[in-house]
Formats: sequence, structure tokens, C-alpha cells
Amino acid sequence: MAHDIENSTKAVRIGLIGAGGRGINCFGKLLAACDDAQLVAVAEPNDVRLEAAALRLDHKFRTYGSAQAMLQSEILDGVIVTTPDYLHADYVVAALQAGVPHVLVDKPLATTIEGCLRVTRAMQETGGRVAIGFNMRHLPFIAKVKALIEDGAIGELMIIENREFYDGGRTYMARWNRRYELSGGLWVHKGTHDFDVFNWWNAKGNPVRVSASAGINALRADKIPFAVQDDVPVGPNCSVCAYKEICPDYALPIGGPQLFNAQTSAADGYVQDLCVFLSDKNTHDNGIALVEYDNNVRASHMECFVCNFTDRLYTIIGDRGTLMGNLANPSQIELRPRWGENMLIPVDVAGKDEHGGADPLLLDNFIAAIQNKAPGSSTVRDGIRAVAVGQAAELSWRNRRMVEIAELVDFSDASLKLL
Ligand SMILES: NC(=O)c1ccc[n+]([C@@H]2O[C@H](COP(=O)([O-])OP(=O)(O)OC[C@H]3O[C@@H](n4cnc5c(N)ncnc54)[C@H](O)[C@@H]3O)[C@@H](O)[C@H]2O)c1
Repeated sequence: MAHDIENSTKAVRIGLIGAGGRGINCFGKLLAACDDAQLVAVAEPNDVRLEAAALRLDHKFRTYGSAQAMLQSEILDGVIVTTPDYLHADYVVAALQAGVPHVLVDKPLATTIEGCLRVTRAMQETGGRVAIGFNMRHLPFIAKVKALIEDGAIGELMIIENREFYDGGRTYMARWNRRYELSGGLWVHKGTHDFDVFNWWNAKGNPVRVSASAGINALRADKIPFAVQDDVPVGPNCSVCAYKEICPDYALPIGGPQLFNAQTSAADGYVQDLCVFLSDKNTHDNGIALVEYDNNVRASHMECFVCNFTDRLYTIIGDRGTLMGNLANPSQIELRPRWGENMLIPVDVAGKDEHGGADPLLLDNFIAAIQNKAPGSSTVRDGIRAVAVGQAAELSWRNRRMVEIAELVDFSDASLKLL
């Protein structure tokens, strides 16, 4: 199927794999408004969603039922991978081996270290570059904390603490994200954002061991928050549930009704509104992970998807002071020096929507890297470090033991240093 893109004068040609929420509503939408780059092709096996995506973006790209067909037919400067996580490594490798010079894969790089190392081998064979969808690096608040740490505002870093509340996280249990084998577990799928921030802030250190505890306390069958009649079953999806008018955890398809509806579901059986209480999940709805670094720094991350708000509350402690702030109020960071006056440090805000304005900056950076105008904001080594911490956290809570990063990957390996 072809849509009219022939008149485009935009220099950078981008292909997209995965026409879901992130692919179309974020990158597709941003590329449609981009001056330097053009989305020329989209690969997606669900042909009903593919057509809905083309309609949503005004039919400005060619469409393919498979990534392989797109990669064989198109000459692309860059590919963006926005499929479910378990497919990331395969598609990054396929794009590199097809000769695509730049790939942006949304986080995580892969669901396991084994997948990450397949990507590094393909990079070494082809010379292609890979960036990760670490949009948090583009939040001015996060970048300002890094600058303050590196400027010595709190002396030598000792502890990072993040307490994250994510109301939207309960919808993981309504989608593919709820399955360990598809997402790598939520410490990999979601936690890689936070572990990457820790690794980025603590640039002088390497993560060495992780202990984590996690579980499902609320989003399970015995916690349904309304009276259930014996002869009227709950679910299985919100859209057909007899209790949808009274359920306080009614989940709308997060990718929006244009891309996810009865017709798109009929094509492949994928729905985004499974009952969050009854779905067959094997990930967590809350947990705590503790990461130790080789430079005597500790970082703890609590994530909770059972709440009525969204926030990340940070406390970053050094031997000469403390930084405090939260992403619900990203325009300021409090600095409390050990000796001296507390002060509020103002921070510019990039935006409100699109993850606080971070997604447009992430895409701009990817395009600038393709054009050789800027270095990429993340490397594959960053992606591997974040997956290593996430996978270690998964192994830790599932096997109830502390996990050494060295069990998973050897960062002193010379081939990884180059990436
Ligand atoms: N950086 C961020 O802030 C952020 C936010 C949300 C999601 N993500 C990531 O974006 C990615 C996509 O998540 P989403 O929420 O958009 O998922 P989604 O379910 O909305 O979309 C995934 C799409 O991939 C398609 N797909 C499935 N198998 C495929 C295949 N073999 N080839 C091509 N396409 C295939 C699905 O049909 C669907 O259209 C995930 O990796 C997720 O971790 C990142």
C-alpha cells in the first residue's frame, strides 16, 4: 500500500516499526511537524491499525505489513523501533543488518542482556549507531540535577533516592506490558528510565549489585473494589464489563480509540483494556530496588502504580549537601548545603505534554545525530547499563537474593567500552 510522500523535500528519511501509541501518537505526530525529517514508511502487522495510523497522520507514508518488507524496500537514514519490548533487539539487529545507519529504539534496549549483546555485535559488524528512547535525559530538571552534581553543589555523591508514584502504571496490567516475557518485567520495562537516570547522575560509578523486592498487592482478583453479583462476571475487558460504570479503575485504551478499538482488536486479538484485577499478569504493581555502585554510592527506587497521582520525588545526598525536588513541580530544585542557606534553584520547563516536553527534544537529538550536527544523548552502553540494573532487579525479587551485575555482563570488556 502506498501513500503520497513523493513531493517531500525533507532530507532525513525515517522508517517506523510498530504503529501503536508510542510509534504514531508520539514519533509519528512529531515527525509530521518536523522540518528536517520525513516519516517515509511504517511497518505494522495489524493492517487495520496501520490504516488507522495512516489516516491519523494524513496518509503521508508508505505502509508495510512487516519490518522485513520495509527494510528490504526502503532506503532509510534512520529507523525508530516502537514495538513491544521483547521484539526490540530483533528489529534493531534487522535494521542494522539491512544497512540502516541510525536506529532509535524506545526503551528498553532489549528485555535481557543477551538481547543487548546481540545489538552490540550487529553494531560492530555494520558500523551502525543505536540510540535509546531515554527521554528523561531531556527533562531540564533531570539535566539540571546532573549539572549541579557535576559542579560539586553537594560535594561527593552518596545517596540517590527516588519515590515514584505512577497512576497510569496500573494500565500496564491491561496491556502486553503485564507479562514478564514480553516486557522483561517492569523493572526492565519501566525501571530502565529510572536506572538510567541514576547511572547518568552517578557518572563516576558503575552499578555492581542490586537487591529488589516487588509484588502484586492491589491489582488482583481479591481486591476488586465493588460488590460482584454471583451471576454477573467481571471483565474480561473494560469495554464489555458489566461493572464499567461503577469500576473506579476502568481503563481506557491508552493508545487512544483511533488506534485501539473493536476493529483493530478483531485483527489480532490485542486489547489494551483487560481488567487490571483479573488479567494474567506476572509483573509487579509496587516494589523497591536498591542499587549499589563501585564508587560507594547507593540509589534506591520505589515504584508504585497504585495511587491517584503521578510524581517522582527525588532526594540526592552528597557529603556537603542535599538536593530535593519532584517532577510534579519541575520548575525548581531545592539545594540544602550542609553549611549555609537553603536555596531554590529555578529550572526552565520544556513543556507540559509529551513527557514534559522531553519527547520532541529526544527526536530532535536523534535527527541531529543522523545529520552529524550533535552527538546522541545516549549510547548503547547506557542502554545496556540500564537493562543490567533492571534485569538484576527482576532476578533479585523473583529469586529472593542479591544479584551481582557481573553475573550478567562484564563492563570491563573492551568491546563494550567503544560503544
Ligand atoms: N520512552 C517512553 O517514555 C515510553 C513511553 C511508552 C512506551 N514506550 C515504549 O514504546 C514501545 C511501544 O509501546 P506502546 O505503548 O506504544 O505499545 P503499543 O501496544 O501501543 O504499540 C505497539 C505496536 O507494535 C505493534 N507490533 C506488534 N508486533 C509487531 C511486529 N512483529 N512488528 C511490528 N510491529 C509490531 C503492535 O501491533 C502495536 O501497534 C515499547 O517498547 C515501550 O516500552 C516508551
